[in-house]
Amino acid sequence: MASFATFLICFTVINLAFAKAKVYMVLMEDEPTFSPSNKQKYHRVGNDYIVYKEKISNNHTIFLESHLQQGSYTKLYSYTHLLNGFAVHVTSEEVLATLRNATGVRLIHEDVKIEKLTTHTPDFLGISTHVWPRLGGAESSGEGVVIGFVDTGINPDHPSFMTSSSSRFLNSTKFKGKCTSGEQFPSTACNGKIVGAQYFARGAMANGEFNATRDVPSPYDADGHGSHTASIAAGINNVSVIVNGFDYGTASGMAPGARIAVYKAIYAFGGYMSDVVAAVDQAVEDGVDILSLSAGPSSVPSGDSAFLNVLELQLLFAIKAGVLVVQAAGNGGPFSSSVISFSPWITSVAASITDRRYNNTILLGNGQSYSGSGISPPTEGEINYQVAAAADVCMRNATSITIDSCQNPEPFIRPLAYGKLIICTYTFEYEYESASIAAVADTMKQIGAAGFIITLDPNFGSAVIKGTMVTLQIPAIILNDMQASSALWEYYNSNTVRDMRGQAIIFAAKARILDGRQAIYTGQAPVVASYSSRGPDVQNALMQTADVLKPNVMAPGSSIWAAWSPDSDGDKYIKGQNFALISGTSMATPHIAGIAALIKQRHPKWGPDAITSAMMTTADRTDHLGAPILAESLNELTEATPFDFGAGSINASQAIKPGLIFNATFKHYVEFLCAVPGLDREAVKRAVGVSCPAKGKFKCSDLNTASVTISNLVGKRKVIRYVKNVSDKDKYTIHIKEPLGVNVTVAPETFKIKRRGSRRLRLLFQATETTNAYTFGEMVLKGKLHTVRVPLAVYVASASSS
Ligand SMILES: *[C@@H]1O[C@H](CO)[C@@H](O)[C@H](O)[C@H]1NC(C)=O
Ligand SMILES: *[C@@H]1O[C@H](CO)[C@@H](O)[C@H](O)[C@H]1NC(C)=O
Ligand SMILES: *[C@@H]1O[C@H](CO)[C@@H](O)[C@H](O)[C@H]1NC(C)=O
Ligand SMILES: *[C@@H]1O[C@H](CO)[C@@H](O)[C@H](O)[C@H]1NC(C)=O
Ligand SMILES: *[C@@H]1O[C@H](CO)[C@@H](O)[C@H](O)[C@H]1NC(C)=O
Ligand SMILES: *[C@@H]1O[C@H](CO)[C@@H](O)[C@H](O)[C@H]1NC(C)=O
Ligand SMILES: *[C@@H]1O[C@H](CO)[C@@H](O)[C@H](O)[C@H]1NC(C)=O
Ligand SMILES: *[C@@H]1O[C@H](CO)[C@@H](O)[C@H](O)[C@H]1NC(C)=O
Ligand SMILES: *[C@@H]1O[C@H](CO)[C@@H](O)[C@H](O)[C@H]1NC(C)=O
Ligand SMILES: *[C@@H]1O[C@H](CO)[C@@H](O)[C@H](O)[C@H]1NC(C)=O
Ligand SMILES: *[C@@H]1O[C@H](CO)[C@@H](O)[C@H](O)[C@H]1NC(C)=O
Repeated sequence: MASFATFLICFTVINLAFAKAKVYMVLMEDEPTFSPSNKQKYHRVGNDYIVYKEKISNNHTIFLESHLQQGSYTKLYSYTHLLNGFAVHVTSEEVLATLRNATGVRLIHEDVKIEKLTTHTPDFLGISTHVWPRLGGAESSGEGVVIGFVDTGINPDHPSFMTSSSSRFLNSTKFKGKCTSGEQFPSTACNGKIVGAQYFARGAMANGEFNATRDVPSPYDADGHGSHTASIAAGINNVSVIVNGFDYGTASGMAPGARIAVYKAIYAFGGYMSDVVAAVDQAVEDGVDILSLSAGPSSVPSGDSAFLNVLELQLLFAIKAGVLVVQAAGNGGPFSSSVISFSPWITSVAASITDRRYNNTILLGNGQSYSGSGISPPTEGEINYQVAAAADVCMRNATSITIDSCQNPEPFIRPLAYGKLIICTYTFEYEYESASIAAVADTMKQIGAAGFIITLDPNFGSAVIKGTMVTLQIPAIILNDMQASSALWEYYNSNTVRDMRGQAIIFAAKARILDGRQAIYTGQAPVVASYSSRGPDVQNALMQTADVLKPNVMAPGSSIWAAWSPDSDGDKYIKGQNFALISGTSMATPHIAGIAALIKQRHPKWGPDAITSAMMTTADRTDHLGAPILAESLNELTEATPFDFGAGSINASQAIKPGLIFNATFKHYVEFLCAVPGLDREAVKRAVGVSCPAKGKFKCSDLNTASVTISNLVGKRKVIRYVKNVSDKDKYTIHIKEPLGVNVTVAPETFKIKRRGSRRLRLLFQATETTNAYTFGEMVLKGKLHTVRVPLAVYVASASSS
């Protein structure tokens, strides 16, 4: 997971790298091969297409040659499909001034650092029981759909990516991606399950961060993250998860029959936008149906440049090409306005905690027992072991903080610590990730301890212990409860005999630890994970948040078992394992990409708008027990709002039959951009290549999404929505749950629509009191067969319209 600390480290690195030379992405006035005015004339096939693509690329070369001095630059990429532009590595600021001045340039953006936003889940989501059977069984669920992953590559030897004989060849005339073989990635790696694999590293190289030994110049996943995400979305069914010799059950992707196309552009250190843009361009040109992006910018551009940055623009064109883009909301929660995925044409995914818990128990010699976490084997035999506080088996001259956190073996007196259960303390160092539970396990193994116990420090107060969900090879329990911690210390202190100097001489406290590797399925779920980034959306140029609901939808993201690259350096504590248990909105995103593939298989003609609408309007607002879904915030649980989970928690069985959908296309997104307060309409035209419609009544809140957000309600606002019929005979009645401080009326209140027909709904939001805060409500369209839910979020800036 990204933390504030790593964020700061990233920044230092960029500045150092940029002191010498910079990478810029330059977009040109000319049309790309896939463009609004080309009307798909050159759509990915035929000689004309190839010739046009060559022409664009040559034009970039000629352009650079005619404007810049030889040797002062290197062209890294020509972008030709969704964008007409290039990435260039330049050695001086003067070069930039020249490019800015040149005719034919649409816009120039400096390269941006990108971060990674670091299984039982199909059952939890009801997919294996309610969706796969309807799609012809697990193996064919997702068949014919290609998901593109812009990530850290893939481990082609993993069992999750094996092919069965029936799925060997992709039955698609649309997808035409290629496979680049290379180091640790033989040409046989593209086996029918993996249908394309390429890598993009020129930006990372130019920025001085690519290390060929560590990062591997081939589609091979030298990190683990990309294999993890790909297997969550499209890993084959029923793969045994065996780690350190223990069988943790089986794992499966959401769409076991979907195909995987790999576009490696992210590395252990993160990545650069210039590479990501090249990857997306290629993926859409190749013909993927869905793009899964478990990465995002390390900070969000604000004001004018938010919606018009190169990647957002490119993703808008991807939507125009019919490709659904699913992106991680970010790991900046629980703080508000922390989403890093913010454009209305993208599906931004929040992360939840599921009902799977790993729980361990310690039995004390006095008959007491306490539970905590610790995914570890039990202590050997049904016998008790002596317990010793770290400080009592360490050299006296060591500083207490390094002893208590048990991060390294040096201070331990080995003969004294050997064979005992060592008590360590959760210190501040863990909060800042300079200490970890995995490192404690390492220490304990080295000193020959029987196991370890981590207790909370009463001086520190109740903390949410970080990093407890690691699989450990040595018995361990983490007492993440102050009472249990105190009880353990009390037992230890009253059974330890000390000499006059206070040194422990007899260790009579005893205990044993049970097996913590068995999952239990219990408790409230789903719950919004604390790290999951929250809305409201980014600010527009007038410093108001945009009228867009973010995130869009939530999926499981915490403690997800999925594929890994055993010899990767992504995380030294997972090194050597074939599976990893990790968390993040990175993990939630491919759940949605996989479910989107199931919807696409069922409804091949549906575009990104219909699929997103289907997932949003059918999402669950209540948990397994029927209670409102809760959200983890700082040390407490609160009722979740749409800024935590968007429309709610994904419900796959409902999402494949939504009844009605909210439709929107490229044209409508341009209309949205033209209406963003403070955004220059000329700048929009330059960026998207088409003119804004004449100024009309259209407001951003009129963009036809399956949600309504009004960030600055003064008096009243009319909002228009269209719903399209995608189902059987039904009649809908609309119910409104009003946000506090607002009177909402809708017309019509009941309606029928024709087959594939659409209906215009007119909503009127009237402020009744000034809230100066967001309040939330819901519009529910209730039919006999379907219930269509639409979240409402309103900020009343003033109740009177003056
Ligand atoms: C190449 O550049 C020329 C001159 O600037 C322009 O007229 C032409 O449209 C460009 N062709 C493409 C394919 O971009
Ligand atoms: C930019 O263009 C103007 C006029 O076309 C010219 O006077 C100026 O020298 C140019 N600047 C650079 C840096 O090329
Ligand atoms: C999905 O919706 C159905 C029907 O409302 C419900 O029975 C089920 O519990 C919901 N949740 C999941 C995860 O399937
Ligand atoms: C492949 O597609 C063709 C035409 O769409 C269809 O007739 C055939 O049954 C498909 N084969 C498989 C194995 O799905
Ligand atoms: C590149 O990575 C390898 C393996 O991780 C490491 O040994 C080496 O020091 C790295 N080189 C640089 C220049 O960082
Ligand atoms: C899953 O795999 C196990 C063996 O690993 C096998 O016993 C079981 O029948 C399989 N289940 C399904 C549904 O294929
Ligand atoms: C852990 O498991 C034990 C025994 O099954 C149970 O009593 C305890 O409540 C569980 N603790 C948690 C935190 O789930
Ligand atoms: C602590 O004392 C031991 C010997 O008793 C010595 O080897 C070690 O270097 C000392 N460490 C520090 C940090 O002074
Ligand atoms: C939605 O579909 C209807 C019917 O096809 C169409 O009239 C409308 O323009 C589309 N888009 C929007 C935003 O309403
Ligand atoms: C909301 O507004 C409508 C129309 O203006 C009005 O008829 C209705 O009484 C209002 N409802 C409330 C609760 O104020
Ligand atoms: C949607 O179309 C179907 C099929 O033509 C029709 O029977 C049904 O009444 C329509 N839906 C609604 C809500 O009227």
